Amino acid sequence: MLQPIGPVSPTSSFRNAMSRVGASVHIITSAGPAGRVGFTASAVSSVTDSPPMLLVCVNRSASSHGPIIANGVLCVNTLSDEQEALSRRFSEKISFDKRFDCAQWGTLITGSPVLDHALASMDCKIVNAIAYGTHSVILAEVLEMRYREDQSRGLIYFDRCYHAVGKA
Ligand SMILES: Cc1cc2nc3c(=O)[nH]c(=O)nc-3n(C[C@H](O)[C@H](O)[C@H](O)COP(=O)(O)O)c2cc1C
Repeated sequence: MLQPIGPVSPTSSFRNAMSRVGASVHIITSAGPAGRVGFTASAVSSVTDSPPMLLVCVNRSASSHGPIIANGVLCVNTLSDEQEALSRRFSEKISFDKRFDCAQWGTLITGSPVLDHALASMDCKIVNAIAYGTHSVILAEVLEMRYREDQSRGLIYFDRCYHAVGKA
């Protein structure tokens, strides 16, 4: 049944409505002069394929926000269903060392951490960041990428829970 907007706040209604929109789960990482940082994100979208370009929305109060902008680079690591614990770890208020300690990482061209066994990793330079409300909308050009061609299942966040998608 459709829920009309009731007497609750627009923010609360928007969050409830967005809980019905399933999205892939990613770990956004960055490394450079401002340090090594990373957090869990679902607000990631393809913008164009030529040049390959992604959009990532980052809360400006997140501890990763300043370093990502200052480093000017980021890597979008898309998680498989076996990496749910990593998603939880990277959304906790714990140190970056504790977040990174529970997985293996490599690097591609920008030096940002690239997660071993991610479904896809897209290593990017930031070309623009637009502050809007609580978030920055970051446009990032993909310089190098790597992806799995096996039958690994994806990880979706839907209805405030994690779900596996793909062939069992
Ligand atoms: C499934 C999921 C998706 C999220 N997506 C985003 C996102 O797209 N952008 C964002 O800024 N934070 C997102 N968050 C919140 C951050 O992962 C995290 O809570 C926040 O960065 C922690 O802030 P801190 O690093 O300051 O402790 C998401 C959290 C979860 C669990």
